[in-house]
This record gives sequence, structure tokens and C-alpha cells, in this order.
Amino acid sequence: MLHVLDHPLAAHVITHLRDKTTKPATFRTLCYQISLLLAIEATRTLPTEEKSIETPLEPMTGRVLTAQPLVVVPILRAGLGMVQPLLDLFPDVSVGYIGLERDHATAVARSYYCKLPPLAGRRVLLVDPMLATGGSAVQAIEVVRAQGGTDITLITIVSSPEGVAEVARHDPRLPVFTAALDRELNAKRYILPGLGDFGDRLYGT
Ligand code: PRP
Ligand code: URA
Repeated sequence: MLHVLDHPLAAHVITHLRDKTTKPATFRTLCYQISLLLAIEATRTLPTEEKSIETPLEPMTGRVLTAQPLVVVPILRAGLGMVQPLLDLFPDVSVGYIGLERDHATAVARSYYCKLPPLAGRRVLLVDPMLATGGSAVQAIEVVRAQGGTDITLITIVSSPEGVAEVARHDPRLPVFTAALDRELNAKRYILPGLGDFGDRLYGT
């Protein structure tokens, strides 16, 4: 289930993220902005409940979020850049970490770290800016499922058709929110037009 963000501000931010002249400090700000927009879109289905309050003028019944424990899980390292907006929107989230790194020659991701809070009964927001072959995302989804996570949403910034298809093949009903669906992968399994190596651009490496 793919959802592509459709908002003029998202288009603006993505274009500046893609621009190769954008420096890491600005890149980090843009990453925050696009992740905030994605987080809002991806949490549209969070449950709410009625709450009685009094405005300065009269009593009324409003709606508030039902206490539902959320877990945000960034795929290290680039996914770290997407965590802060979720912490700002949902101060009570727990954060888990999955460390995966693609091999430069094969583009196959190797796992090097995993620390997750309890996941059963909680909505897991898996965040990683780039969905290229889909290998990293599928590995991370398997880890989350193995640790009891059943309600999983994947949030990415740029996706390839190949990556979206790989996640859908593995998990057809899993919601994927992305800010851009790009054209294709190149021979080195980078997304075209893409924005290059997200982690390198985020951290100036
Ligand atoms: C990037 C990106 C994803 C992965 C996507 O991470 O952040 O995790 O590649 O590629 P895939 O869909 O083909 O698996 P990378 O392995 O470069 O590590 P980094 O975040 O440490 O830079
Ligand atoms: N990882 C990135 O950072 N960029 C790509 O285009 C593909 C994988």
C-alpha cells in the first residue's frame, strides 16, 4: 500500500534535498521538514477519543489521541535524521534501532546492530530515507516481526519502483509512505534521479 506525499511544500523541500549544491547543515534542516510532513501523513489513522473540556466561553467535547504506544525505529545510520520530528510530534514514543549497511559491491545489507523495545501491541514506524532495492527495508521488517511487531508502517523520503515492489512482494498490506517515487535504480543500485548517498549528505562524510 504505497502513499506518495502530495503537497507543494514537500515538492519544494525534496527538490532542495536533491540539489547537489545543498550542504549538510541545510540538508539536515530539509530532512527534518520532509520527515515532519511524512510523519503527519503516516499517522493519519491513529485512533482518537472524546474529551470534555471547557473553552474560555463554554464546555465542549473535543478529540484527543487515544493513548497508544508508538515506537519509531530508524534504520541506521541515515534513518536517524528522521527521528527528531517524530519525537517532537509524539513526545512519548519509544525509539528502537536497527543498524544495516549496504555492501558497496553487492548492495546487499549487512546487519551490525539491533536494540528494540517491546513491540507487541504497539504501532511501529520504521524510518529510512532511501528505499532502493528494498533489501534493507525487508530485513528490518523481518526483524521487527520476529520481535513481536505486527502493526508496521514504513516511512521513506525517496523510493524506487524496484524497492516498492520488493516490499509489496514481501508484505503486500504494509503501508509505505514516501515523499517521492523515482524512476529506477542505476547499475550500482542507487536511485535515479535520487539524491545520492543520503547518509553521506546528512553527516558530511
Ligand atoms: C542506505 C539507506 C537505506 C539503504 C537503502 O543506507 O539509508 O538503509 O541504503 O538501500 P536498499 O533499499 O538497496 O537496501 P546505507 O546502507 O548506505 O547505510 P547508511 O545509512 O549507514 O549510510
Ligand atoms: N542509499 C542511498 O543513500 N541512496 C541511494 O540512492 C540508494 C541507497
